[in-house]
Amino acid sequence: MIQGKKVVYSATQPTGSITLGNYIGAIKNWLKLNQEYFTIFAIADLHALTVRQVPADFRKRALSFFAQYIALGLDPEKNILYFQSHVPQHAELTWILNCFTYIGETGRMTQFKEKSSKHNDNINMGLMDYPVLMASDILLYQADLVPVGIDQKQHLELTRDLAIRFNNLYSPTFTVPEPYIGKQGAKIFSLQSPTEKMSKSDPNPNATISLLDEPDAVMRKFKRAVTDSDGVIKFSEDKPGVSNLLTILSAVTDKGIADIEKDFAGKGYAELKKVVGEAVVEFLQPIQSEYNRLIADKAYLMSVAKDGAEKAQAIARRTLSKVYKKIGLVQL
Ligand code: TRP
Repeated sequence: MIQGKKVVYSATQPTGSITLGNYIGAIKNWLKLNQEYFTIFAIADLHALTVRQVPADFRKRALSFFAQYIALGLDPEKNILYFQSHVPQHAELTWILNCFTYIGETGRMTQFKEKSSKHNDNINMGLMDYPVLMASDILLYQADLVPVGIDQKQHLELTRDLAIRFNNLYSPTFTVPEPYIGKQGAKIFSLQSPTEKMSKSDPNPNATISLLDEPDAVMRKFKRAVTDSDGVIKFSEDKPGVSNLLTILSAVTDKGIADIEKDFAGKGYAELKKVVGEAVVEFLQPIQSEYNRLIADKAYLMSVAKDGAEKAQAIARRTLSKVYKKIGLVQL
């Protein structure tokens, strides 16, 4: 609890590009959380270093993600927004928690195994330690709730195990976090393989809509979206491509799926794709113009980042000093 409210914490790695799927499925639901919770959102730049980054691109992308957070409506006055690398306590707590994590625990994480096989020329210590850094993110802020996708569930389980282990060995120190199961956003699928989730790291640019895609790119990608051959516009499990288009249209226009199906009775897929494309272009327009304004104002972005880092540090410092004391480090 901070200021009488439960704490919600989440972070995003600045890799790939933020997609319409990330917005509809997750970020959209973060916007109102601050009414009920104390909310903290980070750019997980230290996590992104577990795979090789090109420094100039990486710096640019991290700042772009930060500006997109704000352009999407995360208000820096109402949420703590910061870069993970600006709060040294993340790295410090990670070292301590490393000494309480068994090699077997991180070695058997599904994501570690997947990433090791994908980057088998660079299976570095950071890749294996990724979930411990994530546990530090969450535990430093005594987070009660963490909105996570299914792919991060195992990491959250480890976070809980570490918190419980530490609390039992010493005395209650960390809040044991729960997954946040609130209002779920609709799940958006790849435009090219509509049974797979739209992923911000998909190497095929036609499969995803980036929040910063130009209108003609958006129209082109929807035009090429994979559908099926029966020509009927309805939401159905055996029609993943068409259902995905309907879900997207519903999310960006706030219209119900059933109403949309009625509007399209007797019409063809080309018409559907065009309408979805236009609706998405219209939806992205104000976000992009706000983004363009923000990214041109580096001084403002840096002032928000600095303010966020200071607020985050104040909380993180309290937790870390408790930890140092409990484990017996000499206090200055
Ligand atoms: N690992 C998360 C992901 O890839 C990002 C992340 C880093 C995170 N630290 C976190 C998510 C803390 C929630 C809480 O999606």
